[in-house]
Amino acid sequence: MSRLQPFLFQWLSLFILIVVEFFHLSHGDVGTAAQYSPPYLPTACFGSDPSQFPSSNLFAAAGDGIWDNGASCGRQYLVRCISATSPYTCDPEQTIQVKIVDYALTVESTPTAPGTTIVLSEIALATIANSSSPSINIEFQQV
Ligand SMILES: *[C@@H]1O[C@H](CO)[C@@H](O)[C@H](O)[C@H]1NC(C)=O
Repeated sequence: MSRLQPFLFQWLSLFILIVVEFFHLSHGDVGTAAQYSPPYLPTACFGSDPSQFPSSNLFAAAGDGIWDNGASCGRQYLVRCISATSPYTCDPEQTIQVKIVDYALTVESTPTAPGTTIVLSEIALATIANSSSPSINIEFQQV
């Protein structure tokens, strides 16, 4: 055992390195995001239950690309703004974690742009971009 230990340790270190590199290099997908305003209830995922919203108010409605027939309800996504249409600006340094609570095509209020990957709550969008942006380009990744 004492002779094997250094090898085992090396393999373990290599394995950990590979895992860390993998997660570091996988930068998620690229898509678009719009925003929507209150009323946020009821939602396609959790109905009228007001406790569905995270206290951070960072939540979103899933567009067709990620809705997954409702399976996306409750999933968490990391979202970062990569670019916005002039004159609006992005804050690429900010990454938010949003919870999916609704379906973009049936939300109560009209999203600021149709057909986006995700539709963010006002607070969520304002955290990563100029709050007036109708739509932005994002990088996103399921947590
Ligand atoms: C957002 O963009 C608009 C249009 O360019 C600008 O008038 C406004 O000041 C910006 N708001 C912030 C908070 O940067």
